[in-house]
Amino acid sequence: MPSKIDQDELVRAAQDASTRAYAPFSKFYVGAAILTSEGKLYTGCNVENSSYGLTNCAERTAIFSAVAEGALNDKKQIVAVAAINRDGIPCAPCGACRQVIYEFGPEAIIIYKGKSGRIEQTAITALLPEGFRLRT
Ligand code: THU
Repeated sequence: MPSKIDQDELVRAAQDASTRAYAPFSKFYVGAAILTSEGKLYTGCNVENSSYGLTNCAERTAIFSAVAEGALNDKKQIVAVAAINRDGIPCAPCGACRQVIYEFGPEAIIIYKGKSGRIEQTAITALLPEGFRLRT
């Protein structure tokens, strides 16, 4: 994986994306940025719905956009993901997003504000031990 992780750039991109979050129900505005093995950056925000269960998290919005653009597949992988709450509230990726990150980035580094209030870098395998995989 050749792409070098620039934490500040990813956090800035995620923060910028969080300003576009559609979260009128929870008012918890999240932005995400992903770095691919080809060095490309994709962003996403959470998109809520009046039918609450249809909500899509910022991380999955970013990943699905990248897939739709042809930037993620079996060979093009996620190197890093930053997820940031617009208002500085600690926010690690939810369980569903961890599994989706793992699908395209089993070696990905996750950048998020931890409970300590500091920006942390943690491997997806630490956040999601024994991630599910249908293929080897
Ligand atoms: N949310 C995200 O976008 N990413 C996360 O990692 C955690 C939760 C969103 C989903 C929902 O719109 C709001 O935050 C509150 O759960």
